[in-house]
Amino acid sequence: MTLFDALEQVYNEAQAALESAMVSAELEAWYAAYLGRKGAVTLQTRAVGQLPKEERPVFGQRVNEVKQALEDAYAARAEAIKQAEMLHALESGAIDITLPGRPVTQGHLHLTTRTLRQIYDIFAMMGFEVFEAPDVELEAYNFDLLNIPDYHPARDMWDTFWVQTPPGEPRLLLRTHTSPGQIRAMRERSVNQEPLRVVLPGKCYRYEQITARSEHQFYQLEGLAVGRGITLTDLIGTMHQFAELFYGAGRKIRVRSSYFPFTEPSVEVDTQCILCGGKGCGVCKYTGWLEIAGAGMVHPVVLQNGGYDPAEWSGFAFGMGIERPSMMKYDVSDIRLYYGNDLRFLRQF
Ligand code: DAH
Repeated sequence: MTLFDALEQVYNEAQAALESAMVSAELEAWYAAYLGRKGAVTLQTRAVGQLPKEERPVFGQRVNEVKQALEDAYAARAEAIKQAEMLHALESGAIDITLPGRPVTQGHLHLTTRTLRQIYDIFAMMGFEVFEAPDVELEAYNFDLLNIPDYHPARDMWDTFWVQTPPGEPRLLLRTHTSPGQIRAMRERSVNQEPLRVVLPGKCYRYEQITARSEHQFYQLEGLAVGRGITLTDLIGTMHQFAELFYGAGRKIRVRSSYFPFTEPSVEVDTQCILCGGKGCGVCKYTGWLEIAGAGMVHPVVLQNGGYDPAEWSGFAFGMGIERPSMMKYDVSDIRLYYGNDLRFLRQF
């Protein structure tokens, strides 16, 4: 048999064998047997040296044709087998596409975030926008510019976490209240001498013992309105509106005289106890009232520090805690739960 005949015979054999390959494994074996490094067709190529010179090109060309034809047939067969195997896997239930999907667990907003957003909505109705200020604050903003100089005994009202700064540089701290944001908001708006109405939410920090009633971190929301002719009655009206919308319609508030260095006069705002409605209970210590905010008319020195001339401008400010009211509203007995990341707690809200 000539080499030419042998080649044709191998070719026919390979075609027949390919037809009978039914699964991937058989297909791979076929490839090795014919087209692999030691495959029958490959060996034919090497035999070219046995031919007389003038026959070699014709033979070479035929070998290449055969190889190419077999490669193409192999690719087509491989695709057909892949499809058949996939169909088989589906039919035999290796993947049961009728099974219901696994539920996707979705988180939700933290109770504090939801409370804050409720409060933003209420103040937005009264024309207040949200203004963000930093947690790490300059000593000057947290204290001095709010009329609390270094020697002032009122600094004792806030136990401070100090941030280490090189000697001689401005001192940094974790803000002990959201009030420093007042200075930042005023300095931004006083550039164009515009009136302003903002609420400033944020985390505050105090170097304090952690107990069920107090954390060293907590949220506050500050409010500030500066304009021409703003008076204490505007503050009281705003607080009353807030109490009605947040704590419930018909709720009364009362205002007691107090002291803060950055307001004059200063007040504390109480609302009727949300549990007993004013009758007196354990939560309000039988007074019928709960304190909801510190507040007052912005001190002239503070207005000045914010860039507003107190002869022309006036304003009111208030500051309220966020966790305490939400603890009362949802009957939570321990503030530490707000920072514990315990899903059993978080999922309840
Ligand atoms: N910054 C005060 C505190 O943390 C709360 C406060 C009182 C804020 C009176 C005010 C205010 O804006 O007018 O204790």
